[in-house]
Amino acid sequence: MKVVILGGHGFLGTMLAQRLLQKNCLMDRNNTSQAIDELVLVDQMPPQISVEGATSLIGDITDPGFLKTVIDEDVTSIFHLAAVVSAAAEADFDLGMRVNLEATRNVLECCRNLPRPPWLVFSSSLAVFGNAPAVVMDDTPALPLSSYGTQKVIGEYLSCEYTRKGFVDARCLRLPTITIRPGKPNKAASSFISSILREPLQGLEAICPVTRDMNLWVQSPPTVIENLIHAHDTPASAWDEGPRILNLPGLSVSVDEMVAALKRAGGDTSLIRWQTDSEIARLVGSWPGAMNTARATQMGFKGDDIIDDIIRDYLDFYAQQTQPA
Ligand SMILES: NC(=O)c1ccc[n+]([C@@H]2O[C@H](COP(=O)([O-])OP(=O)(O)OC[C@H]3O[C@@H](n4cnc5c(N)ncnc54)[C@H](O)[C@@H]3O)[C@@H](O)[C@H]2O)c1
Repeated sequence: MKVVILGGHGFLGTMLAQRLLQKNCLMDRNNTSQAIDELVLVDQMPPQISVEGATSLIGDITDPGFLKTVIDEDVTSIFHLAAVVSAAAEADFDLGMRVNLEATRNVLECCRNLPRPPWLVFSSSLAVFGNAPAVVMDDTPALPLSSYGTQKVIGEYLSCEYTRKGFVDARCLRLPTITIRPGKPNKAASSFISSILREPLQGLEAICPVTRDMNLWVQSPPTVIENLIHAHDTPASAWDEGPRILNLPGLSVSVDEMVAALKRAGGDTSLIRWQTDSEIARLVGSWPGAMNTARATQMGFKGDDIIDDIIRDYLDFYAQQTQPA
């Protein structure tokens, strides 16, 4: 199998590449495990961490000519993770439209031109919901209140339509907010959800731009990676029982509960500065704080149990990264 990860040098792309190389197999159409012969990571940014065993290609997926050279007739599977994240897409409307919408259409068109429809796992987001009810159900309409959410929901619809036409075999996952993201804050409106845990655990200050009572729908990095692979490996027949769009299981946790868990993990909660940012509060506050994801659970997708476990796993990961060589 030839597997391409678009956005392969990003946070989730790098983790997914590492996990795929470790597994070295994916399921084929007959539900038989097949070896991964080639793994290609495509990104406009050079890799931060080199992933041995994968090929890295630097390029812009908004360029259809470049994308055609990447998605060639040997490609069996594509994980489309490239995106301009939420606050950045809100700040630069044209960039968000080009990358999150037009490039997704380019990806689908490339798939359409292949001799065999490839698998396409598309990373959508809980941001497709706006002014969400207290608990979002599988059939709650996606009515986004952001450019990013709008671009993602259109990408989902296009993926479903190209699947219906037989051009691709797409599976769209609405990812919860992934926490704890290692490294530094990024341009996602949800960046603080990692910062308020990650920074104090390292003795650094963090800013919390929302109030303590805001509920968040989160998932840990290792869990989302398994879910992305599971989306690929789940037979088309199971997907065809409903739309090719799925709300992923997650953990509903308030900011206050996260701060309490930080304290239990030995983090200094006084390092959190409470500084409301009305735009971030509006964006993140319009997203679901809880979901009932019956269909995803029935299809075998996983969530996390408690925030304390997510913090513990992060501390183990962080300790490994900072160990002297
Ligand atoms: N991390 C989360 O909390 C979260 C939540 C919901 C959805 N998602 C979605 O999951 C995916 C991966 O998220 P992530 O956290 O790894 O993001 P990330 O920003 O770390 O990775 C995205 C990658 O896409 C690349 N990219 C952007 N524009 C490109 C272009 N024009 N051409 C080529 N590459 C380009 C970036 O350079 C980056 O490396 C995204 O689609 C995101 O919208 C993430």
